[in-house]
This record gives sequence, C-alpha cells and structure tokens, in this order.
Amino acid sequence: MTATTAAPLAGSRPAGPRHVALIMDGNGRWAKQRGLPRAMGHREGVQALKRTIQAAPDLGIECLTVFGFSTENWARPEEEVSDLMGLVRSYVASDLNRLDREGVRLRILGRRRGLPSDIAAIIERAEAQTANNDRFLLQVAFNYGARADVVDAAQKHIDRLMAGEPVGPITEEALQGNLATSAAPPLDLIVRTSGEQRLSNFLLWEAAYAELVFQDILWPDYGPQALAEAVAQFGGRERRYGGLQAAPARVAG
Ligand code: FPP
Repeated sequence: MTATTAAPLAGSRPAGPRHVALIMDGNGRWAKQRGLPRAMGHREGVQALKRTIQAAPDLGIECLTVFGFSTENWARPEEEVSDLMGLVRSYVASDLNRLDREGVRLRILGRRRGLPSDIAAIIERAEAQTANNDRFLLQVAFNYGARADVVDAAQKHIDRLMAGEPVGPITEEALQGNLATSAAPPLDLIVRTSGEQRLSNFLLWEAAYAELVFQDILWPDYGPQALAEAVAQFGGRERRYGGLQAAPARVAG
C-alpha cells in the first residue's frame, strides 16, 4: 500500500470502547418462553453476566457498567424484588474473591438508603476489598436512577458549599466529579438487549456522547459473541462530538 492509497484516515475510527454499559433486558421473557418462573430468568441472567465480564478485557474494554436494579424496580412484586436481592448476595459470596484475585475493582452505583442492611454491608465490604485493583472496573448499578444521581451530585456540591469548602460555582466538571461513575473512563457505548430501544433512566448524563447499540437477544442468552458484535458495531461508527471531524482514535495500550 502506498501513502496515496485511499484508506480511512488514521484516527478516523475509534479503536474500541473503553467503557461499555449494559442494560440487561429480557430475563422475564426468556423465562416465559420456557414456561419457567421469572426468577429463573434472572438466575440465568447472572450466568450471562459472568460470561460477559470474562470476555470484556479481551475486547479491550476497561470498564463495564451493568444495570442490576433500578429505583423503579421496587414496583415489581415483592417476591421478584426479594429474588433480585438474593442474587446479589449469592453473586458476591461466590465471585468476590475471584474478581479480587483477577484485579477487578467492584463499585456499586446507587442509593444505599432503602437497601436491606445486609446488602448495604455486603456492598461496602466488596468495594473496600477491591478498592486498590486497577486491571478492570466493574460497576453494578443497584437501586440506581440516573436523575437521582444527578440530584445527589448537585446536593453534594451544595452541602460542601454550606460547610464552607471552596468548591466554587457548579460547573459540568464539578457535577461530573460528584456522580457515582466518577471513577470510570468516559462512557463510549450503551448496549440494550431484548430489542427494546430506550435508556430507562440509566446513565443519562454519561450518555451524552455514547454510541447506542440495541441487540435483538434476550439477556440470559448473552455472552462473548454478542458482546463482540456490539463492539464491532461501535467500530463502524464515526464519533464527532458535535464537531465536523471524526474524533481521534484511542491509542491502544
Ligand atoms: C430486566 O429483565 C432485568 C432486570 C430488571 C434485572 C437484571 C438483573 C440481572 C441480570 C441479575 C443481576 C444480578 C447481579 C448480581 C447484579 P426483565 O425482568 O425486565 O425482563 P422482561 O422485560 O423480559 O420482563
């Protein structure tokens, strides 16, 4: 190939998403299709989540943020809410030490108040145990709502101001630094499964320049191949951030 060969300009395509968010939708429909209780769909959903987390680093992903339980999910039947809480207990019990050994930092996004006290304690422990890991960041949104997170971020700023801290005026940078996701790289890609095409109060601030991919697969069937397909779709997008030029590709490594 000569220097004059027409080829995509170096830097015109993103190399791959660093931070991917997953709306894991379709557990209920997966179970219904099989005549199983919804709880079985959520249980299989955890297996799909484990497969997906394992595959992410090989695709160059540094951070996954997954929607485990929204502030709106409290409206579900008590039994289903209790099943979802139970899944968090068992997931942390079975996987925390392995995630820790693998260098994964675990963060739980969302309001702690309102959660059963044992879950709040489990979350604190998991975050503390993995706080110094830097190979991969796994953020699980649990009792999370994006609007509530922005409100909480603004309230933090006001509280510091009232306490006499020199925080200055509210700016985008200041507010962003107070969001639950402040430890994560910028969000590149949001994936929603099951064919639904909406954000459902997930990462609304962070989504400003994220690419959106909607996949027609129920979450319990998700795994490495589906994630690779989502990443491939991302690779075909041109990101201009409101300008006319494509943004420079991420430098690998
Ligand atoms: C949406 O499917 C899924 C959820 C509300 C919960 C997702 C949770 C998991 C996959 C398990 C989370 C576990 C941990 C450890 C974080 P749906 O029930 O709304 O499906 P439907 O739209 O087909 O009814």
